[in-house]
Order: sequence, then C-alpha cells, then structure tokens
Amino acid sequence: MKFFLDTANTEDIKHFAALGLVDGVTTNPTLVSREGRDFETVIKEIAQIVSGPVSAEVTATKAEEMIEQARNEVKWASNIVVKIPMTEEGLKAVKVLSDEGIKTNVTLVFSVSQGLLAAKAGATYISPFLGRLDDIGGNGIQLVKDLRQVLDTYGFKTEIIAASVRGPQHVQEAALAGADIATIPAAVFGKLWSHPLTDKGLASFAADWKKFQETQK
Ligand code: E4P
Repeated sequence: MKFFLDTANTEDIKHFAALGLVDGVTTNPTLVSREGRDFETVIKEIAQIVSGPVSAEVTATKAEEMIEQARNEVKWASNIVVKIPMTEEGLKAVKVLSDEGIKTNVTLVFSVSQGLLAAKAGATYISPFLGRLDDIGGNGIQLVKDLRQVLDTYGFKTEIIAASVRGPQHVQEAALAGADIATIPAAVFGKLWSHPLTDKGLASFAADWKKFQETQK
C-alpha cells in the first residue's frame, strides 16, 4: 500500500519525506489556501520534495476551463497529477485529459457509481472521502471495499486513494479494504507508529536495563 501526505505544507512534507515512506502528496484548494502562498509556487516546491505523484486541483467548473488549467499545471513538474472534481463537467475533462496521457485524480467520490464513471472516463486515481461520508452516517470503508470489487471485476487499472482520513484506524481499515493508497494528513501520519503498549514496553525495558547496569558496577 502506498502512503500519500494530504497537505500543502512543505515543512510537514519535508519532515515526513525524510522517513522515506511518503509515496506522493495530495492537495486541494482548502489545503493550499491555508498556506497563504501562491498556488503554482507551492505545488512546484512540493513536486521537488517528493518524486511521487503530487495532486494539484483545478478550480474551474466548466470542462474546457478545467482542461486548460490541467494542461498548464502539468507543465510545472513531471510528477503532477491533475485533481478533477466528480461532476459531469469533470468527467468530460477527465476523458479528454486521459486520452492526452495526462494523469488525473477524481476527487469527492462518495458512491460506487461515481467511482465507476470516473474509472470509465480514464481516471488514474479515484478518491473516495471516508471521513466526510462517515460524518453523514455513511460507511467510508464499505465504499472502498465496494469500489475495489467493482474495479477488479471489470479490470480497471484506476487506483483507489482512501481520502478524508481522520485517524490511524481509517488507514488500517482502508488497507484491509483494498485501497491502493491512503492519503493521510500530517497529524494522522505522526500517529501511525505509536501504540501505548510500545511506549509502556520501552519504558519497562529501559528501567530493567538501568537496574541491571547498576548491579554491574
Ligand atoms: C483528498 O485528496 C482531500 O484533499 C482530502 O482527503 C479531504 O479530506 P478532508 O475531509 O479532511 O477535508
């Protein structure tokens, strides 16, 4: 399973990329606006830090304008993936862009039919939003399982990015559900390796070792 960071913060990206476990980055207009810096500059910087795919979202709502934005974004770096919203216009844009060999990530996917349509349009990635679906009483993990089954049944190569991840449990469950990738906020990424029993075990090993060292004096 691949791990992407779901952030536009270059300091966080540098910090976690140093682990060697970050396979890519996803951004969205909200995440970029939090940085208070120019969109193109931020995306270019991120694309230099990580060699894997970096999703940069279009802000247009009409297919023609989305296509124009996408063609421009992919000039910024060779690892840019254009994020396109799951709308009728978005599907039109994805079809044209995928025919041109431009990689796309269809975002805001909340149902199997949306995911299936995006895959048929040629999306490289689809992003089901787990947390936001759970928030309205849906089941984000079940959606990942269903999408996995549909994509496999019909032989689509589109990869599933588990998005809107709210905690380590989502990451574990998305892995078990067959997501190809989880895109993870920095705050959640930093919790993935923690477990209270690891901390407790380490503290008792250290205490026992200290006692033993004292007996050796
Ligand atoms: C995905 O690519 C999105 O940027 C992201 O996961 C949105 O999640 P949110 O619900 O935390 O805003």
